Amino acid sequence: RWFAAPSGASVPPAPRPPAPATEVTPDLKAPVVADSPFTQPLRIPGREGLMAQTPRGSALRLVAKEGAFPLFGGPETALWHYNARIDETIVANPLLAIGRGEPLDVTLENALAEPTTIHWHGLAVDEANDGSGLHPVAPGKKRRYTLRVENRAGLYWYHAHPHQLTGKQIQRGLAGLLLVDDEEELTLRKRLRLPWGERDIPLMISDKQVNDRNEIVYKDNPDDWIGNRVLVNWTAGAYLDVKSTLYRFRLINTSNARVFRPAFLHRGRPLAFHLIGTDGGLLEKPWRVDDLFLAPAQRADVLVSFAEVGEGESVILTSLDYVAMENEDDSGPLQPHLMADHPGAVPMGGRMELMEFRIGAADPKDSPAPLPPKLCNFPKPAVEVTPVRKFRLSLDAEGVWHINDWNMHASGHDAQFVVRRGTCEIWEIHNAMASMPHPIHIHGFQFHVLSRTISPPDIRARAVVPGGLGPQDLGLLDTILVWPGETVRIALDFSQPFKGRQRYMLHCHNLEHEDMGMMVTFAVTDDAPVLPVG
Ligand code: C2O
Ligand code: CU
Repeated sequence: RWFAAPSGASVPPAPRPPAPATEVTPDLKAPVVADSPFTQPLRIPGREGLMAQTPRGSALRLVAKEGAFPLFGGPETALWHYNARIDETIVANPLLAIGRGEPLDVTLENALAEPTTIHWHGLAVDEANDGSGLHPVAPGKKRRYTLRVENRAGLYWYHAHPHQLTGKQIQRGLAGLLLVDDEEELTLRKRLRLPWGERDIPLMISDKQVNDRNEIVYKDNPDDWIGNRVLVNWTAGAYLDVKSTLYRFRLINTSNARVFRPAFLHRGRPLAFHLIGTDGGLLEKPWRVDDLFLAPAQRADVLVSFAEVGEGESVILTSLDYVAMENEDDSGPLQPHLMADHPGAVPMGGRMELMEFRIGAADPKDSPAPLPPKLCNFPKPAVEVTPVRKFRLSLDAEGVWHINDWNMHASGHDAQFVVRRGTCEIWEIHNAMASMPHPIHIHGFQFHVLSRTISPPDIRARAVVPGGLGPQDLGLLDTILVWPGETVRIALDFSQPFKGRQRYMLHCHNLEHEDMGMMVTFAVTDDAPVLPVG
């Protein structure tokens, strides 16, 4: 299914959106940006439309439906989205903000012609509110999700998750953001003085396969769906006017399959920045990095200073190219099989420009607050005398993905193992495939990373602590990228306030792998036998 480009093969440049055909009187004072592909202002959380931020604390009714939105310039695009009406205003895929400990009350109405759900990605929920494929909402039907958000502050998200239709529905648009805050976060915000929505901005990045009529294209049962266009906050060719000072960005990759390697390039060179948080909230301390790996579903909370960038200059958020494999023969960008399905797409691992920051003068009164050496009281993993459960990711001769020789599509939803509530386990995940990284996601529980064995050189080079861990491994995660040949160990704490049998999923967040059954159901109960240590 996956193969490497021949060594030294060149990666085609990212397609550029056509310039809008409008006549303009030249403004001689305006800086000339030669052929900039970045012509649309970035959408940021506002009051209406895509990504509008809804008022806190009220029950919400979200209707899953199709609607037309200007995304790519030119004709509008039919987008499947979660639609709500708030005081006569229509919002689409709204950003929900909530405090830790507060209730979330969302009723989904399905106005599509096929089943859908809302999965609360990263949240510690019970089965009934998890929105997995175990509880699809049929066309014309409703489901109410009521839960208390117990997670640490951070950026989470919600998306459709019906069995075998997740890739299609997310590619078509069914995804939104959920921002959680808590006391530690609010203290940090006060110190950093970076107001949300102004100097603290989410960047929801996804690639879409788009035809020349601006339609998002998806075919039945594809492999690894990658796109020829990039949306950041539902904006193609996005730019953001910023000042030459400090910003906080909440990066999230909502692509179907593409792993990004984001870096902030100034004059072609990476601007160092600080990683301060991951999927499950703040790291203990900031880490200075040049770039990151952001697999589908992963988040990165970063602080970027444009202070050294001159007024009138640009910084381009770029996904750098990367080598995913150890083996010489396998090096180079990953080429989805049948690139013909993805005309104009850059192969996975190829370089792509995502958006532009246009730098303006800083307010002379603004002096950025210094970075605190300690960001939060980071929860420590419980790893003493902890049993180990092993998982092996593999591909069979028919091209079917498996986890421990199990394929949900072929074999069903039955829970494959049961974990005793209140216990801790180490899960060891081994990617037995030589050619393909898998972003492995676990529902219902955030986890710590304990170790990674081998990694491609690019990844190994970022180890900062024993065990091969890089800065991104030092936070709480709900999705971990397991590189070809790699073995990772993660620690999970199965304490939760729920009762009875609760079923969750462990699956690949490459949505085409997920839809093809690279997913296992497990249950958490009070009376499961405790996994023996050893
Ligand atoms: Cu974000 Cu099971 O998914
Ligand atoms: Cu996978």
